[in-house]
Amino acid sequence: MAEARFTNGKNLGTGIGLRVPHYDHILREKPAVDWFEIISENYMVAGGRPLAVLDAIMDQYQVVMHGVGMYPGNGNGLDMDHLRRLKKLIKRTNTPWISDHLCWGSVDGSVSHDLLPLPFTFEVARKTAENLRIAQDFLEIPLAMENVSSYAEFTIDQMTEWQFLAEVCELADVGILLDVNNIYVSSVNHGFDPMAYVNFIPSDRVAQIHIAGHSRYERFIIDTHDHPVIDPVWKLYARAIERCGPTATLLEWDASIPSFEEVWQEAKKSEQWRQGNQLENQPGGDDAAA
Ligand SMILES: [Fe+2]
Repeated sequence: MAEARFTNGKNLGTGIGLRVPHYDHILREKPAVDWFEIISENYMVAGGRPLAVLDAIMDQYQVVMHGVGMYPGNGNGLDMDHLRRLKKLIKRTNTPWISDHLCWGSVDGSVSHDLLPLPFTFEVARKTAENLRIAQDFLEIPLAMENVSSYAEFTIDQMTEWQFLAEVCELADVGILLDVNNIYVSSVNHGFDPMAYVNFIPSDRVAQIHIAGHSRYERFIIDTHDHPVIDPVWKLYARAIERCGPTATLLEWDASIPSFEEVWQEAKKSEQWRQGNQLENQPGGDDAAA
């Protein structure tokens, strides 16, 4: 059962992404952060400062690995060398699960370094789930798939994005990393109801939730991770917590990174919903802050 698989994850509390500008502050001040998420690929190296810092952080904190290079939707299968290197880091960090994105990103050895959207068809769902089963068996650790933000759709889609995410994760028997900011970004870009998305997700598979800010332009929203979380995204978060229960929550802030304290205070806002105060604290307003 997926629910039993992610029991520990649901109790992790509030985390933020471990980022280079905050290294010194964290090591010096040892702030009371519940956990840190690391980008796996940044630490899949032979040695040097990144691994030395990671080891020092792990002396004090729980670390959870989040990848950007698995590309489970690739049509020509998985990069097993990548998975071997990933497995080595998993053994080092003792991460309770690992996450990556439900996307594709490379073909015939050429890597885009982008999280590219998949066509939402039953055939693609089946092939992607096959890859995920292979990856989860090989890595010997629970996987969670994150919904990506997207800027293009396929005319051959046979289902909605939320149906596709649920279909793949059920077929592969993996968890979900629900990014409520990505849901909001894609809902504006493609014109769907983001609450319908949150309401459909199989809640017992949600291992972790991402919150983040973004940048709004005239026609599209770009998922820049460089602003505070806006109220419509907090509303999706509140609903996700209502459905999933208290779930490990991570604030992503990856560009124009402010002080550690500012990022941490923004992340901690999520606690009011996890502590069951959603009625008194229900946010209002629109996305004017974006
Ligand atoms: Fe995310």
